[in-house]
Amino acid sequence: MYGSANVPDDSERTAFRKAEKKYKLYYDDSSKSSKKRRQPKQVDLSEVLDFKSILESYRQNGDLPPGIVALHSDFDRPLFCLESRPGFYFIPEVLSIEEQCQWIRESLTTFPQPPNRTNHDAFYGPVNDLFVAAKEKKVLVEEASVPTSLESKCNPSISNGDVHRWKFCEKHEESSRGNACKSILASVLLQKLRWSTLGLQFDWSKRNYNVSLPHNKIPDALCHLAKRMAAPAMPKGEEFHPEAAIVNYFGMADTLGGHLDDMEADWSKPIISLSLGCKAIFLLGGKSREDPPLAMFLRSGDIVLMAGEARECFHGVPRIFTDKEHAEINPFESQFSVEDDICFLEYIRTSRININIRQVF
Ligand code: OGA
Ligand code: MN
Repeated sequence: MYGSANVPDDSERTAFRKAEKKYKLYYDDSSKSSKKRRQPKQVDLSEVLDFKSILESYRQNGDLPPGIVALHSDFDRPLFCLESRPGFYFIPEVLSIEEQCQWIRESLTTFPQPPNRTNHDAFYGPVNDLFVAAKEKKVLVEEASVPTSLESKCNPSISNGDVHRWKFCEKHEESSRGNACKSILASVLLQKLRWSTLGLQFDWSKRNYNVSLPHNKIPDALCHLAKRMAAPAMPKGEEFHPEAAIVNYFGMADTLGGHLDDMEADWSKPIISLSLGCKAIFLLGGKSREDPPLAMFLRSGDIVLMAGEARECFHGVPRIFTDKEHAEINPFESQFSVEDDICFLEYIRTSRININIRQVF
C-alpha cells in the first residue's frame, strides 16, 4: 500500500516508542472543523501516575499505591521513590508559586543571555534581550552590509561574525530597509526558543560539554536550590556541585524524545529537573528501550531527581497540555496580573519550561 513501507507497525516499535505514540498530541480530524479549531484527540490517562493525588491520600491516611515508597526529608513534604527504579525521586509541589514565577522570569530573561547559548545561536549568532524585544514587538533584521545611518537606529545587540549581522529594529525601520532584508519577529523567535545552556556549555552537535566555550557560573540562587534539592540523592557526606544546566522550552506540540543523559562523568550524582508552566507527561523507562516505561504527570513546581541506576534509564516528555482543563496554570493568572507581567502570562499559558541541573565532573 502507498507509503506503508517506511511506517513501522506497532510490533516493530520499541515499548518506549509505543508509549510516546500513545501520549503524543494528535488532533481529531474526524470533524470537518477548520484547522484552527481542531481539538486534541482524547487520550487515556488512566495509567499515568499522579503524584499530586498520591501526596493527598498519603497525607490523609498514609496510603500509598503498590511499588511507591515515601521517604522523609528536610522539605515539608515527602520524597517519593519507585521500587522498580532505584535512584529516581519525585518531590511534588516543592516550589511555591512565587518561586515558580521567579524561575519563569529568569528562564525567559536572564538565562538565554549571552554567553549562554540558545538554539538560535547557530543561525543568528548571540541574541541579546530576546524577551524584551518580543515585548516591544521588535523585528530581528539581517544586514549583509550595514548602511551606517540605519545602523545607528538599531540596537547594536546582535552580531554573527562579519558576514551577517542581525539586529533588533522597530517594525517601521524594517520596512524602510526594503524587501531585500531577511527579518523575523522577535515574538516568533521567542516561540521558537527551544533551549538555553547555563554554566558549562553543552554542545548539541557533538553531544558533549565544550569547556573551551566562554561561560558564566550557574547563578547563585539556582546553585543554592540545586544543592538543597540534590541532598537526598547524594552519596553520603558529599555535596552536589552544579556546573551546567540545560533549560528546555516546550511549546504546544513539542516533545523530548526518549534519551539518556550520559555525558556527565559521575553518574552517582543526581540530575535535578525542575518543571514550570503547563503540565506534562514524563516517561521513565528502563535501561533498554524495550522496557515498558512508567508514565507520570509533571506539574509546575515539581522536582525530579535521577541518580545512580536511574541515570541509566531512558526518559522523555511526549506531551505537554496547553488546554485549560489539563494545563493547570490558573495560579499564574493572579501572579502575573500587573501590566508589566502580561507577557510572562501569555508565554506560560501555552508553554512548559524545564530546568535540568547537572554536575559534570
Ligand atoms: C533533559 C530532560 C526532562 C523534562 O533535559 O535531559 O530529560 O522534564 N528533561 O523536560
Ligand atoms: Mn534527560
